[in-house]
Amino acid sequence: MTYQLPADSRLVQPDFIFGVATASFQIEGSHDSRLPCIWDTFCATAGKIRDASTGEIACDHVRLFREDVALIKSLGVDAYRLSIAWGRVLHENGELNQQGVQFYIDLLDELIAQHIKPFVTLYHWDLPQFIEDQGGWLHRDTAYKFADYADKISQALGDRVYSWATLNEPFCSAYLGYEVGIHAPGMADQAKGRQAAHHLLLAHGLAMPILRKNCPNAEVGIVLNFTPAYPLTQSLADSKAAQLADDYLNQWYIKPLLEGCYPDCFADLGAATPAIQPEDFEIMQAPLDYIGINFYTRAVYESDGAGGYRQVDLPDVPRTDMGWEIYPQAFTDLLVDLTRRYQLPPLYITENGCAAPDELQNGQVADLMRVDYYQQHLNAVDAAVRQGVDVRGYFAWSLMDNFEWAEGYTKRFGIVYVDYPTQTRVIKQSGLAYRNFLQERSKR
Ligand code: GCO
Repeated sequence: MTYQLPADSRLVQPDFIFGVATASFQIEGSHDSRLPCIWDTFCATAGKIRDASTGEIACDHVRLFREDVALIKSLGVDAYRLSIAWGRVLHENGELNQQGVQFYIDLLDELIAQHIKPFVTLYHWDLPQFIEDQGGWLHRDTAYKFADYADKISQALGDRVYSWATLNEPFCSAYLGYEVGIHAPGMADQAKGRQAAHHLLLAHGLAMPILRKNCPNAEVGIVLNFTPAYPLTQSLADSKAAQLADDYLNQWYIKPLLEGCYPDCFADLGAATPAIQPEDFEIMQAPLDYIGINFYTRAVYESDGAGGYRQVDLPDVPRTDMGWEIYPQAFTDLLVDLTRRYQLPPLYITENGCAAPDELQNGQVADLMRVDYYQQHLNAVDAAVRQGVDVRGYFAWSLMDNFEWAEGYTKRFGIVYVDYPTQTRVIKQSGLAYRNFLQERSKR
């Protein structure tokens, strides 16, 4: 089994980067070796995590990282996208935690020794709890604390990092965490969501020149997620609803970085308008070497009859184990649309993948739905590139099954299966197909 792309595809050129991705809280474990973060607190709050699980052990990656790098190597990928746990590398007094820093040095050195390019994200949602206790992302000072963290850790890791990302998916941190409350820290308030978003984007902008100065040979960018919005019908009301949802949930997090303002729907926010300082948009517009795009699904909207939008679940469409519609055309549409809309830097696909109810049987995981998902989505990226979109790489989410946030361990996104009681890893069919595909490419 393998993935097929046309011989003239940009994606099979030798300089196109293929990788796998993970995030610190989702795989590392060893909660006792770092400061508690907002996800530890959220996990400890009854009713927040579907299976009442925690990140205490997760994939035990802190202990098993050398085996995991060997596994990554065995897949034949060019790159590995990981994130750093802020509370593992800094003490509460702001000094570097040498033991935590050493973990990442060892991990990065191991990757480099295996010729795997490290793509490192500084913030994949695991804010140290003591900073949340001081106001978290609602407090402007957190953006400056983030810049200080970026400064210290980028100096400590030096030139080991091939590509830095400041934030992963500020939409999720701000909207899911502070506006609807299904993610840590679990607040549900529109004004808070918009304020958190503003401070996250500010944090990004403050960190950019610091990373550039400390690591002049690395790429520096940000990772954003998009769930493209489609109208239920062609009526004017539904089209407007979809456009509003798109502005509010997607464009909100990219437009200020590229054009120095929020989308037009900002004017309708009223009491929920975030506090903005005059210099903020200029800081946010720090030049980007790339933007990382995370894509999983689309969303369909209708008018709510009152000038707003309402999401509609279409019946009888293919869905993943998350209940997310499988609609690869939206991936092509998204990439083409962003390219038309903005002056974009080059793009990486930093996450794409799906959850499936995988089972280990006779030492194998026949995740054929996922194989099909990857094939269709690779085709969708190829189609976008043929329409002029500048994509430089693609990362499967995820290397291995892991802690899927509010879903705990009930959802499996890996191309490698994790048997949690034994911490055994088994490459699924989707992972074997990835390995075969990469092997064939390297023989060209
Ligand atoms: C994301 C996340 C991942 C999730 C994945 C599936 O950035 O949304 O990076 O942490 O596990 O998206 O929901």
